[in-house]
Amino acid sequence: MHGSFRTSREATELEHEAHAAMADMYHAPSPDDVVFGPNMTTLTFMMTRVLGPRFEAGDEIITTHMEHDGNNTPWRTMAAERGLVVKTLPWSRDTYEFDLDELHALITPRTRFASLNYASNILGTVNPIKEMVATLRAAGAITYVDAVQYAPHGPIDVQDLDCDFLVASAYKFYGPHQGVLFGRGDLLTSLPAYKLRVVPDHAPDKFETGTQSLEGQAGVLGAIEYLQWLGTTMGSAHLATASALPRRTVEIHAAMRAMAQYEQSLSEHLVDGLSRIPGVVVHGITDPAAFDRRVPTVSFSRPGLDPQALAEFLDGHGVYVWNGHSYALPVIEWLGLADLGGVVRVGPTHYNTVAEVDLAVDLIAEYCAVH
Ligand SMILES: Cc1ncc(COP(=O)(O)O)c(C=O)c1O
Repeated sequence: MHGSFRTSREATELEHEAHAAMADMYHAPSPDDVVFGPNMTTLTFMMTRVLGPRFEAGDEIITTHMEHDGNNTPWRTMAAERGLVVKTLPWSRDTYEFDLDELHALITPRTRFASLNYASNILGTVNPIKEMVATLRAAGAITYVDAVQYAPHGPIDVQDLDCDFLVASAYKFYGPHQGVLFGRGDLLTSLPAYKLRVVPDHAPDKFETGTQSLEGQAGVLGAIEYLQWLGTTMGSAHLATASALPRRTVEIHAAMRAMAQYEQSLSEHLVDGLSRIPGVVVHGITDPAAFDRRVPTVSFSRPGLDPQALAEFLDGHGVYVWNGHSYALPVIEWLGLADLGGVVRVGPTHYNTVAEVDLAVDLIAEYCAVH
């Protein structure tokens, strides 16, 4: 990087372009507000190191029972190290959503920080992040949003959300293995960084320690070009003509809206089909009228059903699903399924067809009829 020869200049330019593209995807004010890293979990642990010293023993942080462990254990570790009090926001096992009155009830004058799940990688629930962030920021808390599950299914606008941090993983939005963190500019500027002397003192460089994966960043650019293509060819109905947003943001958002619309038909077939199988409980929103509050990731269990055995049966028919906890231990524990093998999770996305979803449902019904 930053060499005085052509290939280095090209690599430097590519790195800048990847930051600019991600800034547009998140609608961040500046490419400098975007920090690349190996994955969400590593970036989050890094942020616990640099945010931790801001807090004092007895300060309170909030996390939720809907987190992937990547947005849970790092913050609990920070809290244990610094003597912070951790409060956990529950969600309803009837509606699979938060009750925002319960969030209000957790907030005190000592609330300093909250880690929040944008969309659950088990339940599929999309949370009212803008409202949650507003509540927490009004109380003076820093907000850290995990958008890993949401980013492949919906448009993101960090300025509209008004969050302090938001993190996603490119491999979930059809790109390579890269984590991408947005941080509010003034915070990134003022926070300390674990960096070498030779590394610049400004963001994002100071947080991107060591040699970065330029091939990964090039792949992220490719994924964003794909989303732009999707937006302009299949999302024209969503292309705002007079938007104040950058053109690339408009195209990406159009792609995500077109995707979400199409994915609702996948959710409908999946949820409806699974709900018809005797004994099966879908752990998530099942009312089609509320499908704009879910992504098409659908988890289920049935008393006596071994999730792993079903996943292996489906694999034998070319249908690949996850079983267990998918690292979202707080969710599986809250469901009371931690000792029962967790759930079976079917995660179609925009490149799947209704026929594929129906095939999966038919196979699951066939298996459940005899097990
Ligand atoms: C909701 C959610 N958060 C965080 C993570 C962790 O992301 P990474 O694998 O990039 O560390 C995942 C990964 O599956 C996830 O689904």
